[in-house]
Amino acid sequence: MSNIEQTLSIIKPDAVERNLDIEIKEIFKNNGFLILKEKKIQIEKSEAEKFYKVHEIKPFYKDLCAYLSSGPIVVMVLEKANAVIANRELMGSTDPKDAKEGTIRKKYGISIDKNSVHGSDSLDNAIIEIDFFFKD
Ligand code: CMP
Repeated sequence: MSNIEQTLSIIKPDAVERNLDIEIKEIFKNNGFLILKEKKIQIEKSEAEKFYKVHEIKPFYKDLCAYLSSGPIVVMVLEKANAVIANRELMGSTDPKDAKEGTIRKKYGISIDKNSVHGSDSLDNAIIEIDFFFKD
């Protein structure tokens, strides 16, 4: 049975600002992900608020939305077997200081906010998040 999945990945403003997007895309490719779609964009704060709506009640919600809309980001659709979990493993823990050696957040993350990448946390959310950025 095929378990090929698609997931949404975002290279966040802190990484794009440091010109790490090409390097991070290479890491995905070297780990067997296909980048099916990608675009570099800057979103409005109102769009970030919609994207992160699941975190609406969290104390960090306002800062999170201000941050994601603060500069260019690269959004991608990644494909691989078990892509959702594989991407979360490759990204590492949300807080870079807890992330394992060899993960993207360990290598590039600055703080829990400036943690360089976002990845969908479930297959259901991957569908919603891909649709959010790539609805034609
Ligand atoms: P991300 O995977 O993009 O999903 C939500 C983001 O909220 C998360 O990465 C972090 O960058 C950010 N965040 C800020 N503070 C916290 C916190 N205390 N717990 C979890 N996520 C946080």
